[in-house]
Amino acid sequence: MPDDFERMWSDLAPIGRSAQSGGYFRQPFTAPENELRAWFLEQCAARSLRVESDAFGNLVGWWDVGAGPAVLTGSHLDSVLDGGAYDGPLGVVSSLAAVDVLRSRGVVPARPIGVSVFVEEEGSRFGLACLGSRLATGTTSWEAARELRDRDGVAFGDVVEGGSSSLLASVGTYVELHVEQGRNLVDRGAAVGVASEIWPHGRYRFDFGGVADHAGTTRMEDRADPMLTYAFTALGANKQARLAGQRATFGRVEVTPNGTNAVPSHVTAWLDARCATESSLSSLVDGITTQATDRASRDGTSLEVTAESVSPAVVFDPVLAARVAADHEDGDWPIIPTQAGHDAGILSAAGVPSAMLFVRNPTGVSHSPAEHAELPDCLVGVSALADTLERLAQ
Ligand code: GLV
Ligand code: MN
Ligand code: MN
Repeated sequence: MPDDFERMWSDLAPIGRSAQSGGYFRQPFTAPENELRAWFLEQCAARSLRVESDAFGNLVGWWDVGAGPAVLTGSHLDSVLDGGAYDGPLGVVSSLAAVDVLRSRGVVPARPIGVSVFVEEEGSRFGLACLGSRLATGTTSWEAARELRDRDGVAFGDVVEGGSSSLLASVGTYVELHVEQGRNLVDRGAAVGVASEIWPHGRYRFDFGGVADHAGTTRMEDRADPMLTYAFTALGANKQARLAGQRATFGRVEVTPNGTNAVPSHVTAWLDARCATESSLSSLVDGITTQATDRASRDGTSLEVTAESVSPAVVFDPVLAARVAADHEDGDWPIIPTQAGHDAGILSAAGVPSAMLFVRNPTGVSHSPAEHAELPDCLVGVSALADTLERLAQ
């Protein structure tokens, strides 16, 4: 079994890896991601899993055993820009390896088991995170999704067939294994944990308008510089989030025309905000917007804020979480919250009882080339997932 995991892990290691940073660029429907999807189909074929796909590119490899509502597991294969190896693929590889473990244990599940790959979980190409699972659950409509565009103007509707999805029709339960993206498990000395909840979070586009002008001849007091308003806003957002014990990040900025010797005419920046409660998320975003608006009026610039996506709090089914976490060889696994979004959160909110297993991340670093999990912990994760599937599929 360890061999299966390690072989699959080394198959994936070179795909989409940057020679400069060692990080991964696995944006949906680009060459590396297509290669990963082809790899997944091969892995399903090697295990005689029947592959079903939907009109959005989501995939499930079905182990057609038993009857009744299926137990679905899996994750995603796409990455953030220059991301780590584990966020997504660890769940897919562990799911395939868990099927192998169940078979080697001689388990015959009473319900079908599926291994899923959801498309564009990170929203790194079309902007909306968990796009595949949102579409598969009907949380986002095809009419809205088809218009989403990547940075080159290519529409999502141009890269997938589109329509509707019945991929999840038979699913009774979903379990996603994921690398932990914080240090909760390290601090507890636990190799795996179970998710209790996902913080509410959202993405907000801030459009700052100004007046393009000469960087040398324009007196400082005569400028309407949107970069200045943006810079102040980023500093203010950081301070407000820190004071409130919440999270605010400007990680993406587009400057027009982006020339060294010109005051820019426009700056677009994206705020990623995450808070423990929905009301604190609204207050934080309102506070950042108010500060930015005040500053824009002093700078002679304009500001427009657009909420591109807002994801409410997810509380995972506590009975299911307790059932997954209880009665293991070394006691119960810890049940911990996360500030990261996941397909399991979308399925849970859509009424599919869902659970998540986290695998310890020694530094907690994620969405970075430095993201890591130790092999022994990954293997504990595989057996934890196999145990979970065995319990749920009886
Ligand atoms: C997804 O990983 C997110 O939380 O942004
Ligand atoms: Mn991620
Ligand atoms: Mn992920």
